[in-house]
Amino acid sequence: MRAFRLHWPEPGRAGRTRLRFREVHMANPSEHLVDWLRDAYAMEQQAEAMLRAQASRLENYPDVRTRIEQHLDETLGQQALLESCLTRLGTSPSLIKGMTGEIVAFGQAVGGMAMSDEVVKGSMSGYVFEHTEIAAYTTVIVAAHAAGDLETRRICEQILSQEVEMSRWLLARLPDTAAAYLARSADGRDDAKR
Ligand SMILES: [Fe+2]
Repeated sequence: MRAFRLHWPEPGRAGRTRLRFREVHMANPSEHLVDWLRDAYAMEQQAEAMLRAQASRLENYPDVRTRIEQHLDETLGQQALLESCLTRLGTSPSLIKGMTGEIVAFGQAVGGMAMSDEVVKGSMSGYVFEHTEIAAYTTVIVAAHAAGDLETRRICEQILSQEVEMSRWLLARLPDTAAAYLARSADGRDDAKR
């Protein structure tokens, strides 16, 4: 049935993250592809809500905020790309949008956490969320390949690379973020939290 390998891009290198396939034989993968693309679209709406909330709240960690704003732009682009895939597969974007209200509300709650160590917890949640996205696009790429939908596969590999880059950035930045938070917090500074 599957037999594929994931080829990660080198850190800092632009381009697609590619899955290499050997033989794939599956019954009717197109239906799963549409389902999983819809799930990915809902996930990106949740991502948008989280990133917006984080970007609007972060005041004293400007480099984290800048990277979050950059990924917010990427996320809006990903939504448009997923819509193009779903439209090509005969699913109306308006149908998709109706389903995601609850998920967006959840994303806002998570992204807008009012914790005393908000910048640290937000970075951790972002890192976890990026890996949810990485796992989701990995499965969508397999389904697109199995369905013979090369365009969707290409688009999702492009999106996957953006998620991998964001997860790497968050992890690489996390020690500095945590250290800055600890130092400010120890001094009782008002700018520690976010
Ligand atoms: Fe995303």
